[in-house]
Amino acid sequence: MDSLSITQPDDWHLHLRSGVMLRAVARYSAQYFGRAIVMPNLQPPVTSVALAAAYRREILQALPPDSGFTPLMTLYLTQATPVTEIQAAAASGFIFGVKLYPAGATTNAEHGVADVRAVYPLLAEMQRLDLPLLVHAEVNDAAVDVFDREKVFIERHLQAIVREFPDLRVVVEHLTTQEAVDFVWAQGPKVASTLTPQHLLFNRNALLAGGVRPHFYCLPVLKRERHRQALLAAAVSGNPKFFLGTDSAPHLTHLKQSACGCAGCFNAPVALALYAQAFEQAGALDKLEGFASFYGADFYRLPRNSAKIRLYKQDWQAPTAGDPDLDVTPFLAGEALAWQARLD
Ligand code: DOR
Ligand code: ZN
Repeated sequence: MDSLSITQPDDWHLHLRSGVMLRAVARYSAQYFGRAIVMPNLQPPVTSVALAAAYRREILQALPPDSGFTPLMTLYLTQATPVTEIQAAAASGFIFGVKLYPAGATTNAEHGVADVRAVYPLLAEMQRLDLPLLVHAEVNDAAVDVFDREKVFIERHLQAIVREFPDLRVVVEHLTTQEAVDFVWAQGPKVASTLTPQHLLFNRNALLAGGVRPHFYCLPVLKRERHRQALLAAAVSGNPKFFLGTDSAPHLTHLKQSACGCAGCFNAPVALALYAQAFEQAGALDKLEGFASFYGADFYRLPRNSAKIRLYKQDWQAPTAGDPDLDVTPFLAGEALAWQARLD
């Protein structure tokens, strides 16, 4: 197959940052995706509807002229979030989810939730108002091995959340393990998940074999090959509980290539090419459109896009630099890629 035309996809999990970084990276997502769920882990975090409105305006100004890209905003949940803020978010018309970061679990998660039960009254209100909960599903517990933190979060917290709030829509973000796939698969239609291109294509050897490769470091960290296979099987299954979320998360190059490198893969410039590669490897290109363009929109109860994008089986080189003025290194910089995408 030389080319494949699909409905324009959306990115259901994206870090756009703010300021100069936002202005450097926004165009990559806008080039391919119609909409994106924009993560709220800025400094300071987007904890109120007013902050989300201001951030949305900043994003719209940073987009290329005539970009049809729509940012879908989220709120950063804290133990101090007033219930009135949840109500205002649900009524806002531009906030589509509330993100739960376990305190300290990842980049800018220090203001997150240390005691999950303490936010149950907020989850109850979200359930009542049908405002989705988006979860970074990892415990931040020094006693738990880094590679087990997703599995343990599911056992300690997610099982209880879905039991207590059976009508709450939940997105378990960036799955990385077989256990997470099994959990999502076993739930009703209110529980869905996103999958990143790096977790579909790479296992933890990519991070560590032959040397430490900081551009493969993200959280939750890459896992063993058997987990990658489970994620890919879920992505190509045609089950609408599994959809596209790049988790593109740019950091300045020197902050990744450091003695203590930041977590996050800046994959926006190559994400669609990588998803196509993963689906092709699985012999399931016919399942890509549902995963990339339909299931997320359906879950968030938004119309599917009408524009089309064409994926070409054509060698190209991943960009080596994200921006002429800002040193941010794209995921797989300079590597040969097999698929290229262009809006029809
Ligand atoms: O790798 C990651 N980077 N995982 C996250 O959860 C956050 C993200 C970021 O904001 O850099
Ligand atoms: Zn993320």
